[in-house]
Amino acid sequence: MTVFSKQFDTKLRLAAGAVVILLGAGGAVAAYLLHPRQLDTGYTPVQPVPYSHKLHAGNLGMDCLYCHTTVAQSSYAAVPMTEICMNCHVRVKEKSPKLQPVRDSYSSGKPIPWIKVHRLPDYVYFNHRAHVTAGVSCASCHGRVDQMTEVRQVQPLSMAWCLDCHRNPAPHVRPPELVTKLDWQPEGDPATLGAKLIRDKGIHPPDNCSACHR
Ligand code: HEC
Ligand code: HEC
Ligand code: HEC
Ligand code: HEC
Ligand code: HEC
Repeated sequence: MTVFSKQFDTKLRLAAGAVVILLGAGGAVAAYLLHPRQLDTGYTPVQPVPYSHKLHAGNLGMDCLYCHTTVAQSSYAAVPMTEICMNCHVRVKEKSPKLQPVRDSYSSGKPIPWIKVHRLPDYVYFNHRAHVTAGVSCASCHGRVDQMTEVRQVQPLSMAWCLDCHRNPAPHVRPPELVTKLDWQPEGDPATLGAKLIRDKGIHPPDNCSACHR
């Protein structure tokens, strides 16, 4: 008994072939199917040090860029080096057991093994600098990190999510100097100010496949 006619089977192969060619990387689809972790909203790994954004970025009011020094300049938003923590923690809570792994890392030179929360598949190209300099706030993609004791993923990082904003970015565009002010709200409708900035600066997020799949 044949379930599919021969013709249908050919069409299916053609369609599958087309996807592979479009992507230019057949392994990408397989890699995605095996590793769809990027879609896990709510993912909150337990970190090797109970570091709190709520305390440091919220209560103490530290700017995101103090630690995530590369977000505005490079594609990669690196997690801070131990030296940055030790700027304060050589004096502050210098005996706290919670900070033992930080002191160990500082003396051994081995980085703290932070667990990555957000992760896109390798076949997706993403660039922090492009977003941050266009005026998209950390809050649009990461939520209110300044209120989180432990960082958790609040957005699905799906293709549909990227494209929803790329096709209607106005509500998410603000003056670039305010991207790390996560509690900032414009007077009136954010989309009205966003639309003006988009016109003035000629912001035009791409929706062609090759922008994100290179
Ligand atoms: C004192 C240093 C410091 C400051 C200030 C800071 N962070 Fe972080 N951030 C860290 C460390 C350390 C980690 C890794 C551990 C963790 O995930 O909690 C991290 C992780 C993150 C992650 C998760 C990265 C991943 O693994 O996917 C995001 C998102 C993030 N920070 C955003 C922000 C934002 C937004 C601000 C400003 C409101 C900020 N951070 C301020 C130190 C800092
Ligand atoms: C600008 C100064 C500053 C920097 C930089 C800083 N911290 Fe802190 N941290 C503090 C202060 C202040 C406290 C609260 C101390 C208190 O509760 O009296 C604190 C508390 C902590 C605690 C809780 C300690 C305890 O015993 O309750 C941890 C853990 C911690 N920080 C980790 C880190 C890590 C990891 C980094 C680097 C990514 C970092 N801190 C960078 C100032 C800083
Ligand atoms: C347009 C959405 C978007 C914006 C805006 C954004 N991020 Fe991210 N961020 C992401 C995505 C997507 C990833 C995962 C990237 C990957 O896996 O390649 C990520 C990853 C990170 C990481 C983990 C990188 C690492 O080295 O492990 C940190 C830290 C981070 N972002 C901090 C920030 C901070 C701070 C801001 C604001 C200044 C910000 N992000 C703005 C989407 C965004
Ligand atoms: C909240 C809105 C928003 C979200 C979510 C978003 N983007 Fe963007 N993206 C923008 C804006 C705004 C620009 C800037 C366009 C410009 O400057 O003309 C941009 C630009 C880009 C560019 C072009 C810049 C370059 O370096 O080539 C790429 C690629 C890109 N985004 C990929 C992604 C991917 C992948 C995702 C999802 C993981 C994503 N974006 C999610 C708003 C967003
Ligand atoms: C703005 C960025 C962006 C653009 C533009 C984009 N993609 Fe994607 N794409 C993603 C992200 C992020 C993922 C991984 C998350 C997911 O699977 O939803 C992805 C995943 C995929 C996948 C594998 C997962 C699945 O859903 O089967 C395929 C196939 C794909 N894209 C094809 C395309 C094609 C074809 C186009 C052009 C019509 C395109 N993409 C345009 C961001 C983008």
